[in-house]
Amino acid sequence: MLANKPKTKILVDGGDPEETLRVKELIGFVDGQTTNPSLIAKNPEIRERIASGHTLSPQEEKDEYRKIVQAISPLVGDAGVSIEVFADMDTKAEEMLAQGEEMFSWIANAYIKYPCTREGLRAAEISVRRQIRVNMTLCFSQEQAAAVYAATRGSREPVYVSPFVGRLDDHGENGVDLIKNIKEMYKNGDGHVYLLAASIRHVDHLLASFATGAELATVPAKVLVEWATKDFPMPDKDFSYKAVDASGKPLEAIPYKALDLKRPWQSFDTAHELTTVGIQKFVADYRSTLRRSA
Ligand code: E4P
Repeated sequence: MLANKPKTKILVDGGDPEETLRVKELIGFVDGQTTNPSLIAKNPEIRERIASGHTLSPQEEKDEYRKIVQAISPLVGDAGVSIEVFADMDTKAEEMLAQGEEMFSWIANAYIKYPCTREGLRAAEISVRRQIRVNMTLCFSQEQAAAVYAATRGSREPVYVSPFVGRLDDHGENGVDLIKNIKEMYKNGDGHVYLLAASIRHVDHLLASFATGAELATVPAKVLVEWATKDFPMPDKDFSYKAVDASGKPLEAIPYKALDLKRPWQSFDTAHELTTVGIQKFVADYRSTLRRSA
């Protein structure tokens, strides 16, 4: 069991309450949880149902998602449970908001995940005014993080922004640079947005998240098990992150941009191809659980 908790809060990135419980027993605590449509589709009970030919209606999918987060909710600490709205590239903010409001009522410690798109940001802007906590997901650029900051200014609750480290690495770019750049940019802000390092693929990503001062990191159970097996290493003052891909090839650096957080959020360029690809993948995984006629 971990003797000293890191400053960075640790969330489990998954969709299975039993897995969350196992992690909690292993490391002694779990600060929070993130879920997404792909992780829910991988939930063991849902997989079993699909494998035996019992696909779900959209209502049944929603009911299953609710049951899963209700089972996870009491297992985690104050970083809460992030629940993702269903959104494709055509989903309007109002529709995301309606889902977000309903999902927010499922549990007392919910954070609603909206994508870092114009519609997602619009939904977030209204959500924070209604005191719905948000986690802005599929963040791949500093501009998107600046827009999250500006759209949620004045929020009474912490707002999360989730840069996807591993998926940037997959694209040949150093995802850890994005965390560093956002942290640097937010030094000029009022502290209402917390950086949640996401798409963590290995222990070095986790250590780099600690070293860069990410407020939170969401981590797959298998990476947490590996961290525990290695006896919970922590980065020391000489820690240096080696930005290489799985084959050892160096990843391209992401340069810092000087962005003015006081600008209106709509003025930031929030388009990013990986956000679009990410939305398409979530839609495909969500649909894989549904009945054809649904
Ligand atoms: C969490 O909020 C994200 O959905 C998750 O970390 C994405 O991870 P992946 O890139 O491994 O799918």
